[in-house]
Amino acid sequence: MDDLIGEHAVQLAEAELSATLPRRWAHTRGVVARAEELRPVVDTDADLLVAAAALHDIGYTPRLATSGFHPLDGARFLRDELGADERLVRLVANHSFALLEAEERGLRDELALEFPMLEEPLLVDALVYCDMTTTPDGARTSAPERIAEIISRYGVDSVVGRFIRRAAPEIRSSVQRVEAVLAAQPR
Ligand SMILES: [Fe+2]
Repeated sequence: MDDLIGEHAVQLAEAELSATLPRRWAHTRGVVARAEELRPVVDTDADLLVAAAALHDIGYTPRLATSGFHPLDGARFLRDELGADERLVRLVANHSFALLEAEERGLRDELALEFPMLEEPLLVDALVYCDMTTTPDGARTSAPERIAEIISRYGVDSVVGRFIRRAAPEIRSSVQRVEAVLAAQPR
């Protein structure tokens, strides 16, 4: 469904998240704001990035949380119930190095076979940047602070804590690559 790209994606995310998970919705709004800032960076894919930002955490919605692994649940919802654009679905499924968390949960093959990583590094990095420079309340932050906050919220030895410690170098590299592209933009 092509009309999920852009503003409709934000409306869908609001409908699914704002009532049941208001803090997650606040975070999502911040991630969308970062995606809007990256429009010149991703150019013709700007609407796709905004849609992915809006929908990246939709799998947390209780009614969709079937496996309990939100990137997989969100991607399945978008594919199966909405027939969403394949690139959008694959971005959501793999956002912020989900494959590493899937590994911690014994779901790596399931995720990788169902939703292969998009081979478009700038778009993948851009979504990492948007998610990992936004606090749980939607404010702007740095990647190191975001990583530290996640570790303290979930616990250093939890599944998410182990995942984020393994993903941290990749997250920092993604964010740095996007910052470099942003800095090179004409003002
Ligand atoms: Fe997020």
